[in-house]
Amino acid sequence: MCGVIGYVGRGASPAFFLNALRRLEYRGYDSAGIAMLTADGVVIQRAEGKLSQLERKLDNLPATAKVGIGHTRWATHGKPTENNAHPHRSGPIVLLHNGIIENYRQLKEMLVAKGYEFLSETDTEVAAHLLHDEYKNQTQGNPEERMRLALREVVKQLKGAFAFGILCLDTPEVLYAAKLGSPLVVGQAEGESFLASGITALVEHTRQFLVVEDHELVVLKSTGIEIEHFNGYAVSRPFSKVEWSVAMMEKGGYRHFMLKEIHEHPQAIAQTLNGRIQRDSGTINIADLGVEKLPLKSLSRLQIVACGTSFYAASLSKYFIESVTHLPVEVDLASEYRYRTSTVNAQTLVVAVSQSGETADTLQAIKSARAAGAQTLAIVNVPGSTIAHACHAESLTKAGPEIGVASTKAFAAQLTDLYLLGLALAQERQALSASELRGYVDELVKIPSLVERALGLSESIEKLANRYHQLSSLLFIGRGPQWPVALEGSLKLKELSYIHAEAYAAGELKHGPIALIDENMSVVCLAPRDAYYEKTLSNIEEIKARGGRILAIGQENDAQLAALADDYIGIPECSETILPFMTTVPLHLFAYWIAVRKGTDVDQPRNLAKSVTVE
Ligand code: F6R
Repeated sequence: MCGVIGYVGRGASPAFFLNALRRLEYRGYDSAGIAMLTADGVVIQRAEGKLSQLERKLDNLPATAKVGIGHTRWATHGKPTENNAHPHRSGPIVLLHNGIIENYRQLKEMLVAKGYEFLSETDTEVAAHLLHDEYKNQTQGNPEERMRLALREVVKQLKGAFAFGILCLDTPEVLYAAKLGSPLVVGQAEGESFLASGITALVEHTRQFLVVEDHELVVLKSTGIEIEHFNGYAVSRPFSKVEWSVAMMEKGGYRHFMLKEIHEHPQAIAQTLNGRIQRDSGTINIADLGVEKLPLKSLSRLQIVACGTSFYAASLSKYFIESVTHLPVEVDLASEYRYRTSTVNAQTLVVAVSQSGETADTLQAIKSARAAGAQTLAIVNVPGSTIAHACHAESLTKAGPEIGVASTKAFAAQLTDLYLLGLALAQERQALSASELRGYVDELVKIPSLVERALGLSESIEKLANRYHQLSSLLFIGRGPQWPVALEGSLKLKELSYIHAEAYAAGELKHGPIALIDENMSVVCLAPRDAYYEKTLSNIEEIKARGGRILAIGQENDAQLAALADDYIGIPECSETILPFMTTVPLHLFAYWIAVRKGTDVDQPRNLAKSVTVE
């Protein structure tokens, strides 16, 4: 879950490395380091804490270097200290790493016996010494050839996951990389080559990218990039162009990325719909959605695997997809899925939903489903990501880069894509009549502007946050599709503001959690006028009867709900299909404003990272 960056070319400044790392800081932010290689040797600077700590040391680095690497860390082995920060050096080798080396203990014992001295508690330092050792063992060829051979020997001995960026003092114009299990892309511009954990780090410098596959070694020079398989044969693949722009990755005048991204819900939904619905015919364009090659007509069920917010988007879509397709839809936490006995077959479509396209649990779940014979579809936001590569088909959510660590606009885009998947299945299987399908298409088109109106609630929610930010615990309840919305609201609140929050299906309250209700407990109640409205109102009455404080989220002008509630947020009127898109907005804003009021680090909450590439 760390971010790695590498450069080789005419010359890059310390600011280049720092800026590229800033764009990767969402991946981990507990310590960081940069190494720059010049004719005078290598200079390494590392710091504990966020990149701002490393920034203070930039003056100690050379003004420019033809080769360099940088790292931002999310600690797995060893505390987030300067000593454990990457890069790590062994003789002429300087190396940084994203991933986990599972057999590092055995390798360390072997290397200690050979006389290597370890200066950190990391698994990564093992790789640096091992590469040094193997490099020393190579007797044939020039230093670059020896490095290639040594790297091939090293990757054979490592168990786990890695994306390495490596410098060797003996080859001062070459950068090396190796990948297994952790993400890595390379990019190319005139006279410059780059490597990074994600395209966001490099969009400022190039739009030409190539996703490095597992079992590949990369040799980067200013003149070009060579890829070879761990077995030694050369690999050739074309570069592809990404459309993301630098402006998409800036705050655009907002105080935090998260606030900007909440305000981009409408755009994320509109872009995800764009090209996939045909308004004139009232149909879904399955080719644009990316599902054309899947055997949509012969499927007997769907299984969706995802983690965190993506899991809640998937859980929400189950209600819609089942209602329009009449196909059974199961939704599993990817981290648990692999421990169940697999019952998938060629008629099962297993869908992996992931913003980053890198989440290790989701990747493993989809790989095991594919190995068991299922059809697989990736719904991802990052083009060319690992999960997309692992699936038969890819449907891209078009939320644009999401930088805030807490996922917001990606949720809206995932939900949109999943609704489109449901309608595509219904269309191809003729589960809906042409006029029913047109009705849904007409509904989807309205979502962006309605969500835009819901964003107008931001100011009143900011005021409300003043009354809630000191609470130590909150409950969220909802029924039907509003239950996953409640789960999403409680996750956002806890991860951003560190306030304990739990979400329950409203009907479950009486089966236990109601014991928590007294005058000190506040409950966020999702009660829009849907099919479950009356029942949810009864649950609210039960909470009120026990002295609980009610923050109700319903539709505008709902006098009955407003009268029951201590606080009330009214979203614009809309159809039941659209409701979940709407009720999510106040919950994202509520979590955001409470975190701001509490003064927590909104875009980079403690202990988290945006791409969770460890299991
Ligand atoms: C919550 C959040 C996480 C992610 C989860 C899955 O705000 O961001 O719960 O949703 O780690 O990540 P992806 O979607 O990248 O697989």
